[in-house]
Amino acid sequence: MSKQEVKLCLLGDSGVGKSSIVQRFVNNTFNPLAESTIGASFMTKNFHEDSHTYKFNIWDTAGQERYRALAPMYYRGAGAAIIVYDVTSAQSFESLKGWVRELQHHGPPGIVLAIAGNKCDLEDYREVSYQTAKNYADEIGALFVETSALTAVNVNEIFQEISKKIPKE
Ligand code: GTP
Ligand code: MG
Repeated sequence: MSKQEVKLCLLGDSGVGKSSIVQRFVNNTFNPLAESTIGASFMTKNFHEDSHTYKFNIWDTAGQERYRALAPMYYRGAGAAIIVYDVTSAQSFESLKGWVRELQHHGPPGIVLAIAGNKCDLEDYREVSYQTAKNYADEIGALFVETSALTAVNVNEIFQEISKKIPKE
């Protein structure tokens, strides 16, 4: 059976949980003491969806400001991007809009955009409502889910939804 390779990058502020989402997806683990990413990290994972196999080549970028200029290397040629914010941080949702604009102007044409509102297990600290983010995602034609790398909720689902939107080779 053929395997379709998909370059995918994760973008978003430092601390929103990009690396934690990748760890959950690739290894099904969670580290509460995860360290901030330096530069970027790369991982791969095979994923089966509807009798089709995808190999995700995942670039987990560093959210710290000093690495911002590196981002174009990671979204160049990407078939999909997951832009992550933290539901307990309104600031991280504002930053996400900046990433969306950058991808719309400089990203590859036809890139599948997915928005992940992470840390949805922290309901008591929520600053961004589900509906606010959902409306924004609909406006720009992006997939949207709220995820928790801690509880694993919707982590596989976001990759599954992305798979469905990737044009089949
Ligand atoms: P940079 O690499 O600096 O860009 O950050 P990042 O977006 O990769 O964040 P990272 O995955 O390192 O997570 C930051 C902190 O948030 C860590 O302490 C994680 O354990 C925690 N965290 C990540 N996801 C979740 C989640 O879904 N729920 C909760 N409660 N904590 C989370
Ligand atoms: Mg990281």
